[in-house]
Amino acid sequence: MKILVTGGLGFIGSHTVVELQNEGFEVVIIDNLSNSSEDVLKGIVKITGKEPLFEKLDLREKAAVQNFFKIHSDVAGVIHFAASKAVGESVENPLLYYENNISSLVYLLQELQQKTEASFIFSSSCTVYGQAEKMPITEDAPVQVAMSPYGNTKQIGEEIITDTAKVTNIRAILLRYFNPVGAHETTEIGELPLGVPQNLVPFITQTGIGLRKELSVFGNDYPTPDGTAIRDYIHVVDLAKAHVIALQRLLNKKNLHKVETFNLGTGKGSSVLEVITSFEKVSEKKIPYQFMPRREGDITEAYANTDKANTVLGWKAELTLDEAMASAWKWEQKVRS
Ligand code: WQD
Repeated sequence: MKILVTGGLGFIGSHTVVELQNEGFEVVIIDNLSNSSEDVLKGIVKITGKEPLFEKLDLREKAAVQNFFKIHSDVAGVIHFAASKAVGESVENPLLYYENNISSLVYLLQELQQKTEASFIFSSSCTVYGQAEKMPITEDAPVQVAMSPYGNTKQIGEEIITDTAKVTNIRAILLRYFNPVGAHETTEIGELPLGVPQNLVPFITQTGIGLRKELSVFGNDYPTPDGTAIRDYIHVVDLAKAHVIALQRLLNKKNLHKVETFNLGTGKGSSVLEVITSFEKVSEKKIPYQFMPRREGDITEAYANTDKANTVLGWKAELTLDEAMASAWKWEQKVRS
């Protein structure tokens, strides 16, 4: 069965391609290589021994998307990762985000709605909750006014899918990720942030390897036990496996509603200082850091209530924060070797 993975050469996309191939799916990847490289294909093949089909294509080009589905008319399901995802950049350049993240989604759905049936997995984010009132966060926590155009494109994307599924044969699952971290145990694939990493874990690993002098800890005056912000750091391999399970749910028509939503996290919150401690433990490296003012747009705390994913989806994160840090460190050393 052929599955389209858009953004399949990206961080979460590439790990998901590996898990799809492990489950025997035929995979075709669409990627415009704006935030990834074709070398990632080699890493996937080294892990699974199977070469996915790959089409370099920009989903903003409607004609190219239409042509793709003419050629690959046997695509049974789509996992849609391709999107711009840097929160800060989205504030500076909102139209880039609205054009890329929204038009790509619309063109994809316009092709899928013509099929007799289509399974669609959407890469969403816990960012839609903003600062949720109650921890841990459940799927029925209110979607708050987006803190950034990036977050808004995820909210709008969910609404577009929901409205479309109501009147077409598309069945969809919205996966709201918490904080994806780590890398495949083989170190053949991992996170490749371009330039100075915005996210915590790649910055830590680059500090550990000596690429960065010192980590800035954005805020130590949060109302949390150690004063630093809390997030739910989920190993990217656990996250990838959840996508395969969600897709199989739709392909096997086990879904209870046309659109279902699941939070994907570990259910455990970790502060910035706890992440640093975990990394120092597994790497035996000291991470020099300095407390700096809070980062604009950051929330205090977010970690997932995983009951629905565990019981309804039948998925549970298995890897720990230490295992995620160890894999991230192994990957950083490999990339810099
Ligand atoms: C985590 C914590 C920072 C860097 C974002 C997006 C989310 C998803 C994941 C795309 C925060 C602190 C960070 C640093 C620090 N992205 N930090 N020093 O902001 O929770 O989530 O990335 O899908 O949608 O919103 O992740 O890793 O940037 O930050 O102290 O150099 O680490 O303030 O508390 P975030 P993050």
